[in-house]
Amino acid sequence: MTAMKICVLGGTGFVGQSIAARLSRMGHEVHIISRRRERHRRLLVIPTVKLIEGDPHDMGLLRTLFQDVDAVINLVGILNEKGRDGKGFEHAHYELANKVMQACTQTKVKRLLHMSALHASEAAPSHYLRSKGRAEKRVHQVSGHDINVTSFRPSVIFGPGDSFLNRFAGLLRQLPFIFPLACPESRFQPIHVENVAQVFCDALGNHETYGQAYNLCGPRTYTLQELVEYVVKLTGARCYIYGLNDWQSWMQAAIMEWSTLLPWVKEKLFSLDNYRSLSVDSICPTDRGLPLGITADALEDIAPGYLLPKPDPLMALRRHTGRG
Ligand SMILES: NC(=O)c1ccc[n+]([C@@H]2O[C@H](COP(=O)([O-])OP(=O)(O)OC[C@H]3O[C@@H](n4cnc5c(N)ncnc54)[C@H](OP(=O)(O)O)[C@@H]3O)[C@@H](O)[C@H]2O)c1
Repeated sequence: MTAMKICVLGGTGFVGQSIAARLSRMGHEVHIISRRRERHRRLLVIPTVKLIEGDPHDMGLLRTLFQDVDAVINLVGILNEKGRDGKGFEHAHYELANKVMQACTQTKVKRLLHMSALHASEAAPSHYLRSKGRAEKRVHQVSGHDINVTSFRPSVIFGPGDSFLNRFAGLLRQLPFIFPLACPESRFQPIHVENVAQVFCDALGNHETYGQAYNLCGPRTYTLQELVEYVVKLTGARCYIYGLNDWQSWMQAAIMEWSTLLPWVKEKLFSLDNYRSLSVDSICPTDRGLPLGITADALEDIAPGYLLPKPDPLMALRRHTGRG
């Protein structure tokens, strides 16, 4: 494939960093728009990556930056909003997707890759899934005319730096005896971030993916309780996982919904919207594997690499010198 100039929105995030690194290795020029450029300066070590400070909701900025790009990748997404009425989700997902579409059309961008979520739909029970569904529907409405769109619908994504297994590992460190786990029976098919990045990058120049929406799932299904117990096993946490029933899970979500009223809590750890999203199993309806002939990595082959406690180098040196 010839080298392209690609603009990535949400490219500073967990998935975006893997995609940017892979695009760079393929020889593409990657322009990432970030609202907080300085915070993500470390990404500048990736050759061919340029970080541009700006708000992706600024139409003028989008039009300027899309001027001579070959493709746009929109990865912007939030798991929780500040308020409770869904407007935050609508803004981050649907309104942004709509602006990206308009800017792409006005600047004649020919290719758009859009990140959605598994079971995103206008009929879904949560604001998160509904707004993702509306956004995905919007980008496909114009696909095929002047622009070729492909969307991706992953289950939960794992890998170094994820906010899923790592978050549980962090919480388990803080709760030494018992962990009250909401929605323990919710099911997931976790997918490795490098597999997601590979699907995106391989789809970029592949005409067969034009106009398609791909579910992205890992090779195995787990309940949330199984996943958290796996984290307990890997991290050596001494904690009993107590699965809450539905009513208790709702109560936990309702209480945590208001946790941001506490001055030291910056974002909701869990919310009623998360609780509603979890009522839909995040598993693929058919077991077709990943598109484009990509083989999904097993969680058990990857997660120990970043969840197993790292040996303290000082202690190792002491032991080595017989002083430990
Ligand atoms: N991680 C998962 O398990 C998972 C599963 C299914 C779907 N997804 C979807 O995959 C995408 C990437 O996920 P991720 O885990 O990489 O997310 P992430 O780490 O939170 O990164 C998202 C990026 O989007 C930008 N962003 C966030 N809120 C924004 C807003 N309101 N307006 C403009 N930009 C905003 C941020 O960039 P700046 O702060 O630099 O501007 C951030 O770096 C999201 O669309 C997510 O919904 C993720």
